[in-house]
Parts: sequence; C-alpha cells; structure tokens
Amino acid sequence: MKTMKYISLSQTDDLMPTLGLGTWQAPADVIESTVYKALDLGYKHIDTAFNYNNEEAIGKAIKQWISDGKGTRKDLFITTKLPHVGNRASDVKKFLDLQLSRLQMEYVDLYLIHVPFGFHCNPDTLTPVVKDNGEYDLDMETDHISTWKVMEQCMKEGRIRNLGLSNFNEAQITKIFKHATIKPQVLQVELHAHFQQVELRRFCAENNIVVTAYAPLGSPGAKDHFVNKYNYNPDTFPDLLSHPDVKEIAEKHGKTPAQVLLNFLVNQKIVVIPKSTSETRLKENSDIYDFELTPAELNRLKKLDKGEDGRVFNFLFWKGVQNHPEYPFKIPGSVEKASE
Ligand SMILES: NC(=O)c1ccc[n+]([C@@H]2O[C@H](COP(=O)([O-])OP(=O)(O)OC[C@H]3O[C@@H](n4cnc5c(N)ncnc54)[C@H](OP(=O)(O)O)[C@@H]3O)[C@@H](O)[C@H]2O)c1
Repeated sequence: MKTMKYISLSQTDDLMPTLGLGTWQAPADVIESTVYKALDLGYKHIDTAFNYNNEEAIGKAIKQWISDGKGTRKDLFITTKLPHVGNRASDVKKFLDLQLSRLQMEYVDLYLIHVPFGFHCNPDTLTPVVKDNGEYDLDMETDHISTWKVMEQCMKEGRIRNLGLSNFNEAQITKIFKHATIKPQVLQVELHAHFQQVELRRFCAENNIVVTAYAPLGSPGAKDHFVNKYNYNPDTFPDLLSHPDVKEIAEKHGKTPAQVLLNFLVNQKIVVIPKSTSETRLKENSDIYDFELTPAELNRLKKLDKGEDGRVFNFLFWKGVQNHPEYPFKIPGSVEKASE
C-alpha cells in the first residue's frame, strides 16, 4: 500500500495533510522561526491550541512566509483548539475570535474541542480557576451538544472549515453524532506504537472520522515536563525511539526510529503531528513517505501495543479532573462498579 500525503475529510472533501507539525511545548520565541523553517521544508499542516500560548507567533511566521511570496493561505492546513476554560456554548465565539486574531487569519481549517471536560475560567488571565487546596475548579455544566451547535454556526459563517474533537471517548463522540448536523470529521487522540487505540480507530473508521495521532513518537519531551511539575513516575514513560524492534526495523530500511514510527501510523491512514524545533529533526520527520514496511514488520510493530497501559496523557496533573462528569478515561487502578 502506498502511503498517502493527504486524506479527505467527510462532508467537505477538504484534504488534510497526513503530516503536520506539533507545537506543544514550543515556546513563542522559538516557534516563530521553527514554523517558517517547517513551511520552507514542505510542511503544510500546523497543529496548535489556545493552551500552547504560541498562536500569535505561529500566525506571524505564516503571515511572513505568505508575504515573502512562498505560498498562499489556501496551501496550508491550520488546526487549533477550543480550550478547557472555554468549553461552553457561550464562550466558543469569544475564544475563536481571539484565536483567529492571534493567528492573523480569517479562518482555521480545523477547530477541535481540546478536551471533553471544562474548568471555570479566570477572566483576567484566561486560565483555569484553581482552589486553595490545589484542585481545579470544575465546570460541572459542560454540555457538548450546545457547544458543538455554536461551532457548527461558526463553520457556516466560514471561520472554521472543518470540525473535530480531541480526547473524547467513543460514548461522548456517539452522543455528538446523534445531535450534530455537521458530524465530527476528525478525532485527535494520543496514539503511538505503545498505545495504538485499536478499538477507537475501528469506531472512527466506521463513522468516517479521520484520526490524528498526537505524541506519535511517544512524546519523549513530556517525560521531563510531567516529572518536574507533576510527580509522574518516569518508569511509566515509553521510550519508543530506542526500542530494539523499532531500531532494528529502522536500520533495515536505512531510516531512523522516528521515521519508522511515523511511517507505521501514516501507513494505516492516521495523520501524525510530531513536534520538533530542531531543523534536522524537522527534516527527518517529514522524510517518511519513500519506504514501505513489510507485513512482518507491521505486525512486529503492532505487537508493541500495551493497550490502556501505554497511555501517557491522562490529564490527572490537573488535580481533581477525574471528578468531572465528562472525564473521558478509565482512572488507572480503579475498579468498575458492579451493576445491580
Ligand atoms: N490534543 C491534545 O490534547 C494533545 C496533547 C499532546 C500533544 N498534542 C499535539 O501533538 C503534538 C505532538 O505530540 P508531542 O509533542 O507531545 O510528542 P511527539 O511529537 O511524540 O514528540 C515530541 C518530542 O520528541 C522530540 N523529537 C521530535 N522529533 C524527533 C526525532 N526525529 N528524533 C528524536 N526526538 C525527536 C522533540 O524534541 P525536539 O523539539 O528537541 O526535536 C520533542 O521532545 C504536540 O506538539 C501537539 O501539537 C495534542
């Protein structure tokens, strides 16, 4: 099977590049030149979010690249996300307007609800309200359907070209599907060789939802980020880039472990958004279309799946988030309640 550079989205037939540049943990002063370099290298798709605090720098880089005559806005596919503090119908337009003005754009190609839960927002800082005991102030009224309806309106007005979700589970997506006029077109979730999301991907395929893999390399940078700030256990972090199977397959193809991990996903019609701010690695991560893994190699990589144990991003670093009615994941170590 030939790996595809674009994948068509349901309902609009827009083409989404199967490779995008991730920008989480990329500080504003670095990301501006990174995005400009990435566009020069042929990246067409940039993934950002309100919460990454870098939309303004990304907008600057894109504006400069276009005004330097290197391409047009239409050539690009820009994704951003409605934040947890704006996850309510009455806030969608306010955040989208602010994000578009930061990005200096008339529209985004894809707008996602970043997470299914919501926090109360400090109106001065636009960050979550945190209580004296360190717990996040949960907005217990989060209502996906009314939020989605406003996103649909924004799409009709031309400020969003495509709509999607991030970190939602199957039941939550199904509920939106039932009530939506425009069905979710994309789901962005954590997905890498140690956490392959087989069931969720099957559901998405059945419902014409394109899956985007975040942390496609296993997010090696998250290790420092989480351990320093949130006391995560470093032993639970995947080290996919130095996994012996991945390294051996890479050597056989004259490729790097990162290229194998990305090709493995793209080969299965999954969009990948690896983050890098290094020019060498930007090049490396985009050079993934000129080789094909054998069926035996694909099977070997499929066996690296650890299921739920492979998940890195459970968001428990936001203290108390698991008490939100829309927290989407099974809590590690929890026991399902027996039904009566
Ligand atoms: N929707 C969500 O909730 C959510 C959550 C997490 C992430 N995301 C999105 O998904 C993107 C990707 O996820 P991620 O950034 O967590 O993880 P990732 O892309 O799997 O890994 C990025 C890390 O790997 C390093 N790296 C990149 N290319 C490499 C290579 N070829 N060889 C060795 N190391 C390499 C990067 O460092 P250098 O920069 O130094 O190269 C960075 O530390 C994010 O940036 C963000 O846009 C979304």
